[in-house]
Amino acid sequence: MAAPINKNRVSSSGSKHKVKRLHWVLLALLVSLCVLGIIFHGRKISYFFRPLWDNPPAPFTRIPHYYAENVSMDQICHLHGWSLRSQPRRIFDAIIFSNELDMLDIRLHELQPYVTKFIILESNTTFTGIPKPHYFESNRDRFAFAREQTVHGTFPGKLAVQGSNEDPFVLEGRQRAAMNSLIRRAGISNGDILLMADTDEIPSPHTLKLLQWCDGIPPVMHLELKHYMYSYEFPVDYSSWRATAHVYNGQHTQYRHSRQTEVMLADAGWHCSFCFRHMWEFVFKMTAYSHADRVRYKSFLSHSRIQDIICRGDDLFDMLPEEYTFKDIIKKMGSIPPSASAVHLPAYLIQNAHRFKFLLPGGCLREM
Ligand SMILES: *[C@@H]1O[C@H](CO)[C@@H](O)[C@H](O)[C@H]1NC(C)=O
Ligand SMILES: *[C@@H]1O[C@H](CO)[C@@H](O)[C@H](O)[C@H]1NC(C)=O
Repeated sequence: MAAPINKNRVSSSGSKHKVKRLHWVLLALLVSLCVLGIIFHGRKISYFFRPLWDNPPAPFTRIPHYYAENVSMDQICHLHGWSLRSQPRRIFDAIIFSNELDMLDIRLHELQPYVTKFIILESNTTFTGIPKPHYFESNRDRFAFAREQTVHGTFPGKLAVQGSNEDPFVLEGRQRAAMNSLIRRAGISNGDILLMADTDEIPSPHTLKLLQWCDGIPPVMHLELKHYMYSYEFPVDYSSWRATAHVYNGQHTQYRHSRQTEVMLADAGWHCSFCFRHMWEFVFKMTAYSHADRVRYKSFLSHSRIQDIICRGDDLFDMLPEEYTFKDIIKKMGSIPPSASAVHLPAYLIQNAHRFKFLLPGGCLREM
């Protein structure tokens, strides 16, 4: 009687061993899959869990923005709780330029009637230390229509030294300091309006009129811009907030492109990211960009991949949306739905639609 029981015990403990071994093998497999997953998709995973590790910045206080065609400036100023000035303020538009030639063309034409001086600073390296031409200087003929209004400066960049890990934002900071002296050279005075924005962040003309003609505006306001990706065919949201308008004060006003105050004027213009005509400009921007570490694979720069992504409204860096709640991440996952509207866009763009097809609905194919 004892023997069969023993036998049974032996065999059952033997199969227990086998089951245990299987467990370990499965566990090891799972762990290595996770490790591989983290290596290849780590950034995606950590972005998905962003709501757990990151808090959203404090929200802005939005200033309601009133505008319709053919409403008088006096009425518009009063709707905002401001009053009409007897003389318009002068406007200075200060931008750090990289390579967005078409966006600069639209910006200068669109804002020219309102702007006293365009202050354009460019460097001979990118933020990430890659040498680059002075694209504005070498295309001066294209911008000859605004020559009288343009104050241009260059800034010596710094080459990335192999092995050194200099923070690209340090150079960005020095570049912005160079901008401060260029602004003073442009002849700005206390009480003038100073706009601080990237080339592709274009305030609307009616926003500039508000700044010119209304007394009582806040001394510093962020401008809430409608954000587009690749062209005005792909509106993303109203998340663009970095552009600002300042009533210039020589003692306090410093060029910055970060949060400077709590108030933001709603719906004040357009921000078109990666809105390039040529494929090489995408590749250049992807590698020259402050977040160039996002180019994780060489294949990310393949022209056919980039072209497919632009037409689908997908993400060039294969990243998840940078949002702070799971609800927002899931809402924004996947492609940007295309829009068929070309209404309320810069007038110069519509007047020259034949030259800017790539920025308008149905124009996603790019030139080489
Ligand atoms: C604009 O307003 C003026 C008078 O205030 C009026 O004569 C004109 O018809 C209006 N134009 C449009 C397009 O509504
Ligand atoms: C950038 O310009 C500065 C000053 O003109 C020069 O000394 C430097 O060598 C240039 N750098 C590159 C990468 O061309």
